[in-house]
Amino acid sequence: MEHEISITEQTERKVTDTKSVPFGKIPTEHMFIAEYKNGDWQNAQVVPFHDLTLSPLALCLHYGQTVFEGMKAFAMEDGRINIFRIDKHYDRFTKSLQRLCMPPVPKKLFINAIHRLVQLDSDWVPREADGSLYIRPFMIATEDRIGIKVSDEYLFMVVCSPAFQYYTKPLRVKVETNYVRAANGGTGTAKCGGNYGGALYPTQLAKDAGYDQVLWTDSTHHEFIEESGTMNAMFCIDNVLITPQLTGTILDGVTRDSLLTIAKEKGITIEEREISYNELIRAFDNGKRVEAFGAGTAAVVAPIEIIAIGHKEFKCYTEPDAIMYQLQKELLNIRKGIVPDTHNWNYVLPLNP
Ligand SMILES: Cc1ncc(COP(=O)(O)O)c(C=O)c1O
Repeated sequence: MEHEISITEQTERKVTDTKSVPFGKIPTEHMFIAEYKNGDWQNAQVVPFHDLTLSPLALCLHYGQTVFEGMKAFAMEDGRINIFRIDKHYDRFTKSLQRLCMPPVPKKLFINAIHRLVQLDSDWVPREADGSLYIRPFMIATEDRIGIKVSDEYLFMVVCSPAFQYYTKPLRVKVETNYVRAANGGTGTAKCGGNYGGALYPTQLAKDAGYDQVLWTDSTHHEFIEESGTMNAMFCIDNVLITPQLTGTILDGVTRDSLLTIAKEKGITIEEREISYNELIRAFDNGKRVEAFGAGTAAVVAPIEIIAIGHKEFKCYTEPDAIMYQLQKELLNIRKGIVPDTHNWNYVLPLNP
């Protein structure tokens, strides 16, 4: 079934300078909203950004039936706007929705919603080399009922915000061996709100101890590295790119997948496997060159300078010739249209008339 999208334009258009504002603080002028009622999506609209009215009984406020995505649009060298890997983000959104017992959004509606919104707000896509437009599709359960149940009503929305460098310097991270983010059979691989709420307290403890983020470990042994904050964890030990395999407890990151693909094409050996903090300690102790970085849409490639394991801190390699920077550059070049997009990752909007 075709879902028409109506468009109501903001009458006074004004792009704000957002470079000095913290990530995600300033929305663009419009948003997309559609309602799920009586078993189908309706009232799909791009409208001026506005606050919601929700019943205090709305199920999402109590039981965590919320799912989101995070993707980016880039200004290309030729002036067109590129939404990066919209298909893979759609697939992950659909899987997350299924895990939270929420209705799927038809692919055409998802893509058209983002296309129309980004096109209308295309003046907000930063043209600077380190800028992009962060796109946040999300769904919440809105049925008003205080008892736990699968909601019969939802809102699917998309909002956007200009984004610049997420981290301005290499990170200090702490290997977390007490708290866990996700366990086998849990929701670790879904991008649902509860995963992030549960991570706040251990992350705050790490911040209080002088670290930027935690490196989560597995829930059984508290030894194997999982991921970090909103990033997948990657390591280069003596030029071999190692990252935890997708076991169902970590997010199937789009950046992770893109970097692995690029690395493979560059002839870099990649290993998707378990990596324990003991293996990292051995590598450091044996004087190997260890690069560590987070990979994610918001942070792109976030170099890690210090890894704290127990009471000891280990220093990673962050010099300009590090492999992670080569991968980061290639990824940016594809997104900006500087090198050919041989994987069909770019969803390029036509130039505004
Ligand atoms: C928990 C978690 N891991 C990893 C990632 C990286 O995924 P992606 O590269 O798709 O942004 C994210 C961000 O979406 C995340 O929230």
